Amino acid sequence: MIIIGSDHTGIELKKKIVSYLVEKEIAVKDVTNFKDQSGDDYPDIAYIVCSNVKKYNCLGIAICGTGIGISIACNKINGIRAAVCTDKYMAKMTRQDNDANVLCLGSRLEIKNVFELIDEFINTEFAGGRHQRRVDKITKIEMSQKDGVEYGDSL
Ligand code: RB5
Repeated sequence: MIIIGSDHTGIELKKKIVSYLVEKEIAVKDVTNFKDQSGDDYPDIAYIVCSNVKKYNCLGIAICGTGIGISIACNKINGIRAAVCTDKYMAKMTRQDNDANVLCLGSRLEIKNVFELIDEFINTEFAGGRHQRRVDKITKIEMSQKDGVEYGDSL
């Protein structure tokens, strides 16, 4: 299953992506249905998308104007590795190397072949191996924020 959500800037892009995934018979859950064109703030959308990604242990797509604001907010949530991608290569590599679980897209950008980018994100597996060690270090930084033990103390 893919979780998807957008702020007001991304409503049209989100609809197109949902239709694309439905057409490909990929389960998709739209977790934001704001009708208002201005009132939904990207940190709220980030929280809603990421809570669902964690609940269903699946991938997510989060959309704001640039993809940047929402990615900053998503990455504040424990267990989330969110990446703004503007091309297929970024989408592939962030799954393969970073085990990214949320793809952030900018609705106001001109992204070529956005569906191919999404295919790449969804279909690429995390490579593990040495990349697992690095992702574990990201988790360790995350945990150090919670338990008050500075990550740098162990370097
Ligand atoms: C909303 O105008 C805009 O700030 C938001 O969509 C996003 O681009 C923030 O990073």
